[in-house]
Amino acid sequence: MKGRKKVVTAMDALPARSKRSSPPKNRKGAPSPLDRAMGLGGRPRIETGSAAIADLGTAPSPQPTMSEREALDRIDLSVDIAPERGLLLTNPILVASGTFGYGVEYGEVVDVQRIGAICCKGTTLRPRAGNAPPRVTETPGGMLNAIGLQNPGVDAVIDKYGPIWQGWKVPVIVNIAGESIEDYVEVAKRLDGVPGVAGIELNISCPNVGKGGLQFAIDRDAARAVTTAVRRATELPLLVKLSPNVTDVRPIAKAIEEAGADAITAINTLSGLAVSSDRTRAFLGNTYGGLSGPAVKPVALRIVYEVAQVVSIPIVAIGGVTNLDDVLDFLACGAVAVQVGTAIFADPELPVRLGDELRAECLRRGLASYKPLIGTALPKRTGTPSAKGAEYRP
Ligand SMILES: Cc1cc2nc3c(=O)[nH]c(=O)nc-3n(C[C@H](O)[C@H](O)[C@H](O)COP(=O)(O)O)c2cc1C
Repeated sequence: MKGRKKVVTAMDALPARSKRSSPPKNRKGAPSPLDRAMGLGGRPRIETGSAAIADLGTAPSPQPTMSEREALDRIDLSVDIAPERGLLLTNPILVASGTFGYGVEYGEVVDVQRIGAICCKGTTLRPRAGNAPPRVTETPGGMLNAIGLQNPGVDAVIDKYGPIWQGWKVPVIVNIAGESIEDYVEVAKRLDGVPGVAGIELNISCPNVGKGGLQFAIDRDAARAVTTAVRRATELPLLVKLSPNVTDVRPIAKAIEEAGADAITAINTLSGLAVSSDRTRAFLGNTYGGLSGPAVKPVALRIVYEVAQVVSIPIVAIGGVTNLDDVLDFLACGAVAVQVGTAIFADPELPVRLGDELRAECLRRGLASYKPLIGTALPKRTGTPSAKGAEYRP
């Protein structure tokens, strides 16, 4: 009998290198993490392996003793990811835009106040219904999504969530998107000074209507122009999120820094495609989708590694984080903080647990802070930036 080819799912890839971060069992009858993450209630379709998401097994961890607890509490995980304006986080583990709703959806399952910061769903000037379904599908080691920035619009976000966020200890960074510079500027202006909004993350992976649909993120001048305009429109800490869908990200990152961004976040999803099961069309309603999850981590690491050598503003890394080893890898490549995205769908408590694990790792290594872990894998040089990596690009 011929052996069936094993379908590798995102979840197969989860505990790849570390036994740490074993996720807890899904509570029976609790709302699905995926539902919460989408923020708007609709459960997206997962084509394969979704059963694997539901039950991930429990690994009880021993409780620290009182003296260990005190030693752990003394370890400094704080980081200011926008030193010029001040965006101080109690720890460097954030949640990525589009994977944690507006934070409120998780209140019953996660202690959201223990997360470093929340990047909320992509927010636009006017409400958006998003793309036609299907909008997501699982892939080997990840998923494709084409949600299409479904959101109620900036005014509704401010009215509904601002008063809640205002009472929170955890900073909320609003991820914003638009089709023109004017869109971005208007959204930033409306968020400026809103209590509960700690910063803005520019999602520039959107088609620029003024440039015939070309993404802001793949054009250095467009990235510079949108960053400059938003910088003038707000005093809020400004993070700009890089797209991996470029040949060389470094000139774009430099332009963003020169335009006044406080920090760079990297990376957004990789452009991808899935085919329908009868192979008569593209599977997703939007044809293309964004690839995320463990499969994208090496790409994200390469980009963080390259960008860290050409900018001096902080870098917040994102892409395929599922365990502490991933966090340590991104720190070693120059990131000062890390966002967790797709892995939250399987394990909403992961971001909080990673903060605890990073603390324990510092204690184990005799470190008073996690800062010595940053940049250890970067080339040791003082001269011109390294071009390492360029030779491997197709
Ligand atoms: C369902 C879904 C929705 C997303 N929505 C947004 C968004 O609105 N804005 C944004 O900048 N990134 C969005 N992203 C990208 C993530 O924030 C993150 O950059 C990417 O998924 C890579 O990280 P990961 O591999 O840990 O998921 C979304 C990702 C997913 C999976």
